[in-house]
Amino acid sequence: MTEGTGGTSSTGGGIVTAPLGAGGPEVGVQGLGCMGMSFAYGPVDADASRATLERALELGVTLYDTADVYGAGDNERFLSPFLAAHREEVVIATKFAVLIPADDPAGRVTRNDAPYIRQAVEASLRRLDVDVIDLYYMHRRDVDVPIEETVGAMAELVREGKVKQLGLSEVTAGELRDAHAVHPIAAVQSEWSLFSRDIEANVVPAARDLGVTLVPYSPLGRGFLTGSFVDAGQDLTADDFRRRMPRFTGENAVANAALLAPVRAVADAHGATPGQIALAWVQQRAAVHGLPVVPIPGTRKPSRVEENTAATRITLTDAQLDLLEPIADKVAGTRYPDMAFTSAGRE
Ligand SMILES: NC(=O)c1ccc[n+]([C@@H]2O[C@H](COP(=O)([O-])OP(=O)(O)OC[C@H]3O[C@@H](n4cnc5c(N)ncnc54)[C@H](OP(=O)(O)O)[C@@H]3O)[C@@H](O)[C@H]2O)c1
Repeated sequence: MTEGTGGTSSTGGGIVTAPLGAGGPEVGVQGLGCMGMSFAYGPVDADASRATLERALELGVTLYDTADVYGAGDNERFLSPFLAAHREEVVIATKFAVLIPADDPAGRVTRNDAPYIRQAVEASLRRLDVDVIDLYYMHRRDVDVPIEETVGAMAELVREGKVKQLGLSEVTAGELRDAHAVHPIAAVQSEWSLFSRDIEANVVPAARDLGVTLVPYSPLGRGFLTGSFVDAGQDLTADDFRRRMPRFTGENAVANAALLAPVRAVADAHGATPGQIALAWVQQRAAVHGLPVVPIPGTRKPSRVEENTAATRITLTDAQLDLLEPIADKVAGTRYPDMAFTSAGRE
């Protein structure tokens, strides 16, 4: 949204826009993560979530993010009436590749093979009840399948009109370059926040070189950076996925909560919340790297989408950025229990 990112025009609802891939559509510079509306983060509230979808659109959010694995298709089904009402205004992104075994809710199976992709896209189109998916991501990499096979199969879907643009999630810089040689990649989605900066070393520069937009997921550190919980093991419900995340429980949670002190100080200086500072930071960090970025904070509450989109108007000073700079290196615990599930585990 600032110099170097290429997105400075304003949508009707107020937030500025950024391009989604070279030559791609302009989308609101902040998107909306819809995962928590059906999956992963404790009790769901369908009415509040529906109101959140509508409020986001009013505020200029146009990129809505889901995946087939979020609630085993429930999240895509949940979004379908909203999409039916607003199809031309919304860019819908979904993902394939991750399956959760029925007998092992903590387990993950990754499928990247061409026959599976064809099956997955048809199922997502049906659940979303749309003719075309605007942005289709490979959610995770199965290293046993050549990336050329995976992206080749995804490119066929573009040629057939089932998908408009391609994205990859949690890929390494090398995987991104190999994929981009098969078919242009519009977006890379990876975790990027004040607490998770590993992609800045290789993935972000590769995306910049190739004209790929970065879509940071969990820009609020899965809520931790808002200061709304400390120890997931105590503060969150038994079905909350964050109870299994190494950063958010026990001694790690206590140590990490202390790291929020400078975030709170910067927030006070702006009359803002810590979460808004986290969102402003990722936006400004992308400007430093010189590439378009569209973070997708997740929320199920209209008032929070107002708070989060307002963060796009906060500019941090150099002194404030310096204050926030050391945080990521001090974070206790990895961002996933198994880092092989991330690009950093393969870089
Ligand atoms: N590609 C991938 O592998 C991957 C992985 C994870 C997530 N994602 C995508 O990225 C999206 C965002 O990531 P995320 O949901 O994991 O993490 P996040 O956006 O960092 O944080 C979401 C959490 O923060 C809370 N929250 C949001 N705004 C808040 C505010 N203003 N004040 C206080 N709390 C606030 C939400 O609670 P409420 O909902 O109760 O407001 C939720 O618990 C997901 O929805 C999903 O679409 C992708």
